[in-house]
Amino acid sequence: MKKNISLALTLVILTACHKEAPIPSLEERYEKYFPIGAAVGQKQLQGLDSALLIHHFSSLTAENDMKVSRTIKSMQEFSFTAGEHLVDFAERHGMQMRGHTLVWYHQTPGWFYRDSLGHYLSKEQLLQRMRWYIHQVLDHYRGRVYAWDVVNEAIADGSAMFYRQNIDWYRVCGQEYIKKAFVYAHEADPTIKLFYNDYDLINPVKRDKVYKMVKKMIDEGIPIHGIGMQGHWTLEDVNEQNLSAAIDLFASLGVEVQITELDISVYPYYHNMDRSTLPKEVKPYTPELAKQLADKYEEVFQVLRKKSEKITGVTFWGVTDKKTWLSNYVVKGRTDYPLLFDSLYQPKEAFWKVVEFVE
Ligand code: G3I
Repeated sequence: MKKNISLALTLVILTACHKEAPIPSLEERYEKYFPIGAAVGQKQLQGLDSALLIHHFSSLTAENDMKVSRTIKSMQEFSFTAGEHLVDFAERHGMQMRGHTLVWYHQTPGWFYRDSLGHYLSKEQLLQRMRWYIHQVLDHYRGRVYAWDVVNEAIADGSAMFYRQNIDWYRVCGQEYIKKAFVYAHEADPTIKLFYNDYDLINPVKRDKVYKMVKKMIDEGIPIHGIGMQGHWTLEDVNEQNLSAAIDLFASLGVEVQITELDISVYPYYHNMDRSTLPKEVKPYTPELAKQLADKYEEVFQVLRKKSEKITGVTFWGVTDKKTWLSNYVVKGRTDYPLLFDSLYQPKEAFWKVVEFVE
C-alpha cells in the first residue's frame, strides 16, 4: 500500500547492490518483529533519502523538526510546517509517525522559561506554560502522531545526582515537571502512547535510575506507556548482556520498550565525557572496521529479535552515513559511520548482517 515510488528511484535501490538479488527491505524483513523507523529532517523527504525511507522503513521520527525550538517562535507564533511535511510523508507512505520531543532541556529557547521582562517564571507559571504548549502541539497533530517522547533526558549521568538538576526545568519546577508533562499530555490526547526517552540505558547506573523513576510514576498512577532507549551506542559499550538486561528490566514494568535513536559509533564511548578529551583523528573506513560494525549490529539485532515480544519499535537516528549527527556533533568535523547505509547510499556489511538471519 505504501510503495508509491518512482521507477528511477526504484532502479537505484534495486541496482545499488553488490549482490545479485534485489536489496531486501528492512521493514519487510522485520515485519513480524517490530516496525523499523528512521529519524530525518524535512530535507530528506526527497531524492535518494526518500527512496530508502520508502523502501526500508515503516516508521518516521522528526530528528529536529518537532522539537520546541522548531515548533514555537514566540508565545504568539507556532511553526508546524516542517513537522507537517514529515507527517504528510509518513501518511502518504503508510508509515507510523513518532513525536520527538515535548519537554527537553535542550533545543528549548531561553525565553520559554521567562516572562516578558526576562525574569524566570514561577513554578506554577512554568507548569502552566508547559501545559499550554503540550496542548497546542498535541491538538495540532491529533490523530496523526501515535506516540510522543514526552520527556527527554531528565535523568543525570553517573551516580552523584538522580535527576539532571542543572537545567531550567528542574531549577524552576524541581522533579515535578516530569510527572506533570505526562499528565498534561494524557489529558490533551488520551489516545497516544507516552514515552520517557533517554540515552545510555544499557549502563546499569542510569538504567536503574530510570527504572526507579518510571516505577514510581506507575505506582502513583501517572500515565506513562513506554520507555525509549535511545541507543547511541559504540562498538565498545553495547553487548548482548547489557542490552538484554535493560530490555528485560524495563519490560518487567509492563510498559512498552522501544529503541528510539539507534546508531553505533566507531569511536570510543562518549556519553558524559569531556568532549575536548575525545580522539579527534578520523578513522578510515577499512574492511576491518566495516566488519567490526557489522558484527556489533548482528549482536544487537540478535538480541532485539529474541526480545521482540517486549519491543514495539526500533528507530535508526538517520538513514545513511552521509547525514549523521555523530559526524559533527560529538567531535566537530570527525567522520563517523554509525548507520546501515554508507554516504553513497549503499548498504553496508552491517546492513546484510541485520537482514540475513535464519528464522
Ligand atoms: O539548522 C541549523 C542551521 O541553520 C545552522 O546553520 C547550523 C549551524 O550550526 O545549525 C543547524 O542546526 C543544528 C541542527 O542540529 C540541525 O542540523 C544545530 O546547530 C544542532 O545543535 C542540532 O543538533 C541536533 C541535536 O540533537 C541537538 O541536541 C542533532 O541534529 C540531532 O540529531 C540531535 O538529536 C538528539 C535527540 O534529539 C535526543 N537524543 C540525542 C540525539 C543526539 O544528540
